[in-house]
Amino acid sequence: MSSLTRRNFLSLSAATSAALALPTSAYSLTLPAAPGNLRLIFFTDTHNQPELNANEGTTLAFAKIRSLKPDLCIQGGDHAFDLAAAPRDRSLMLLDLYQKTERSLDGIPIHHVIGNHDVFGRDPASNITLTDPLYGKKAFEQTFKTKTYRSFDQAGYHFILLDSIQITADRGFDAMIDDAQLAWLKSDLAATPIGTPIIIATHVPIVSAAPQYSPPDDKAATAIAYQQITHLHGFLLGNAPTVLPLFHGHNIIAVLQGHTHINEVVQWQGIPFITSGAVCGNWWRGSRWGTPEGFTVLELANGKAHWHYETYGWKATNPLPDPYASSPTTA
Ligand SMILES: [Fe+2]
Repeated sequence: MSSLTRRNFLSLSAATSAALALPTSAYSLTLPAAPGNLRLIFFTDTHNQPELNANEGTTLAFAKIRSLKPDLCIQGGDHAFDLAAAPRDRSLMLLDLYQKTERSLDGIPIHHVIGNHDVFGRDPASNITLTDPLYGKKAFEQTFKTKTYRSFDQAGYHFILLDSIQITADRGFDAMIDDAQLAWLKSDLAATPIGTPIIIATHVPIVSAAPQYSPPDDKAATAIAYQQITHLHGFLLGNAPTVLPLFHGHNIIAVLQGHTHINEVVQWQGIPFITSGAVCGNWWRGSRWGTPEGFTVLELANGKAHWHYETYGWKATNPLPDPYASSPTTA
């Protein structure tokens, strides 16, 4: 006790006693580890497939990712195109193709987030039955040996992976965080020591400005109109006003989002909602609303996040016209 005066010792003892009297939901006794340095690559919407040279594109993207030597990667969903509506044989082929291609990342830890195109046989057009052992989210869970939502800690950072896809009774999907997951998220955040830097990843964006600049003849614009009629959410998260208050009081340094294929950051209430462009760009047909094919590189250092968007030199064989092709992000 040489460096601790009696007065400091008494006040520390009193503080500890007071802390012990608090419920664990209000105070965590585990002090956060000092956050270190991590290079995180968030790559999303690979939409891998044999057509349009997509597998060559995915392989090229993975080679660039590997060369950047990340400590970990998060795949933001929509691994292949498309497990929701394709017949069983094709879905199995796509899963196998994706896994083989991902092996080129050569031991880099990869954490997988579920996307709407990862839900096996969700659409009745697939002719896959509800009793199929891979139906729905089982294919994702078995392939990537993971739950669809979970959290983990690394180097003093807390990572939360969300499942933003809920299958509806008529085998459509609704972009929501369901009630069971909301309860889990609340308890996971409560168990995280206050001040810990937190990174959240979700396939469907919780916050995005994309509807504001959606070209009127784009199918995303149609999706927004559709969800106003059906009250089903496909483009952006439907229950963001329920999810966002759970973030209050926590040190969320980045929310990583996919699905729209548009590179965009919305900073709201001090939280950067970073939507990443897609590895596949416009589903392997060039840039998407001015965003070229690529992924997001984050440098986590001393509890802060810095990031940039990285392209990997892919040229689509058969690009579609992009209404925002002249935007600076295509340069
Ligand atoms: Fe998606």
